[in-house]
Amino acid sequence: MDRAAAFPPGFFDRADPSPDSAFYSWPRLVTHIDGDAIAAVGALYEELAISGRVLDLMSSWVSHFAQAPEHLTVLGMNAVELAQNRQARAAVVHDLNRSPALPFAAESFDAAVCCVSVDYLVHPIEVFTDVARVLRPGGLFACTFSNRCFPTRAIRGWLESTDAQHLAIVAEYFRRSGGWDEPVADRRTPPDHRGDPLFAVWARRSA
Ligand SMILES: C[S@@+](CC[C@H](N)C(=O)[O-])C[C@H]1O[C@@H](n2cnc3c(N)ncnc32)[C@H](O)[C@@H]1O
Repeated sequence: MDRAAAFPPGFFDRADPSPDSAFYSWPRLVTHIDGDAIAAVGALYEELAISGRVLDLMSSWVSHFAQAPEHLTVLGMNAVELAQNRQARAAVVHDLNRSPALPFAAESFDAAVCCVSVDYLVHPIEVFTDVARVLRPGGLFACTFSNRCFPTRAIRGWLESTDAQHLAIVAEYFRRSGGWDEPVADRRTPPDHRGDPLFAVWARRSA
């Protein structure tokens, strides 16, 4: 069964179909959301009590934890960015669009996070399925995002959707990948917030 078939044709296409390795070949030591949105990410991680062995997917030089987990593994595209991540204990360069399978053993992590990057996945259901594999039963996966992106790298379905639809899309990734309890979707900055908004969808790996 093609689990992505529920999405419209062309949903996962990108304006620039060239490999991610070229786009991410030089380090961007910048922040992609403003300070309030970063604080909202850290507050969510605290509220969800994300700790222990944690995987930060599609990571860079910052992981936004208010307090670093005991053992944080960061996975992304640029080795220089990952090497600068002061909260990380291990770093892995891995292209999830070339290979959605994660290079980790089953049940290696207590939790996983993915910040402002889920919109770049062209095989999100395969990736979410494999995140469930590498989490322990009951382990949490939290995806956060705002309303900014590299437009040539984001999938068409994301670019053509509203903030509310983004929440529904990520919740659907969880449901269609299987192995998860019902996801929770939430806006984490107030509706009248003037800076970057912060949205989140999270779910626990089914026990
Ligand atoms: C907008 S940045 C976000 C970085 C970081 N998560 C943050 O919160 O600042 C997008 C990140 O996604 C990663 N990324 C993009 N395409 C990827 C892919 N195909 N596989 C793995 N990581 C990818 C890049 O390495 C980059 O660090």
